[in-house]
Amino acid sequence: MVDLDRDMSDVVPTGTTRDSEYLFARMTGRTLELARPGRGTRVLDVASGFGQDAMALSQRGSWAVGAEPSQRMSGLARLQSEQASDRTPDWVRSWSDALPFRDASFDGVICKGALDHFDRPLEAIAEMARVTRCEGRVVLAIANFESLSCRVARGLDRFKETWLGRRLPRGRRHYDVPSDHFTRYEIELMREQAHASLELDVVEGISMAWGMPGWSRSVDRLPPPVAQSTLNGLDRMARLLPGLSDVVILAGRPRRVRKSSMISA
Ligand SMILES: C[S@@+](CC[C@H](N)C(=O)[O-])C[C@H]1O[C@@H](n2cnc3c(N)ncnc32)[C@H](O)[C@@H]1O
Repeated sequence: MVDLDRDMSDVVPTGTTRDSEYLFARMTGRTLELARPGRGTRVLDVASGFGQDAMALSQRGSWAVGAEPSQRMSGLARLQSEQASDRTPDWVRSWSDALPFRDASFDGVICKGALDHFDRPLEAIAEMARVTRCEGRVVLAIANFESLSCRVARGLDRFKETWLGRRLPRGRRHYDVPSDHFTRYEIELMREQAHASLELDVVEGISMAWGMPGWSRSVDRLPPPVAQSTLNGLDRMARLLPGLSDVVILAGRPRRVRKSSMISA
């Protein structure tokens, strides 16, 4: 079941911290970069939410389309783009597993922070591959629920509960999957699902330690240059060890199913 009126106040933190800002900026920056936007390219944002990424693709010269089922979020995206003076995206209301576009219509497709919200993620990735041209690229950015920080926080909580007999504060912990997610992703599942429709050439991690107990406060207390180089250093580690990173980005070109082999099979 999907709430067609939802907004994102439940997923995007209201008060930002340095480490959150860093994570979201890196995740967005790298996703957009891998889609290779630019003049003359066509790029689709699947589950485009408020439309900020589709707008950024337009600003980089692409003909961008934001596809999003939620009426409320598409409405806000439209409203914002009406106020923009330069080139703006086209907005389409659509589910990810039935994209209303012809085969190979786009040079790039992005899907950021949304795959775990889909009830049919495999079909959604297959659709993204179908609408991407052979040499184009599909880019998926997915939260990792087996990140270093999830493992450490979960281990610490278990230790406190089991060995110290402490009662944990109520509510969802950052390593618990939110109630509006259908899938709890870790790197092997991401690879497996993406590989079914994509020839992956990028599997890399973004940021490390986000959500670790006490981490946000510690980073906020550091002098800005020290905080920046700490976050950069952890991000470099995440790139090398995507299985432990906060977010994983997977990208690749579509795997085409050959019609002749389907007929002879
Ligand atoms: C966390 S938001 C991410 C939005 C955006 N990509 C971003 O990075 O800000 C998840 C989005 O997935 C959309 N969504 C949920 N189920 C969907 C489905 N089956 N097909 C397409 N979009 C879906 C929601 O409406 C929501 O906009």
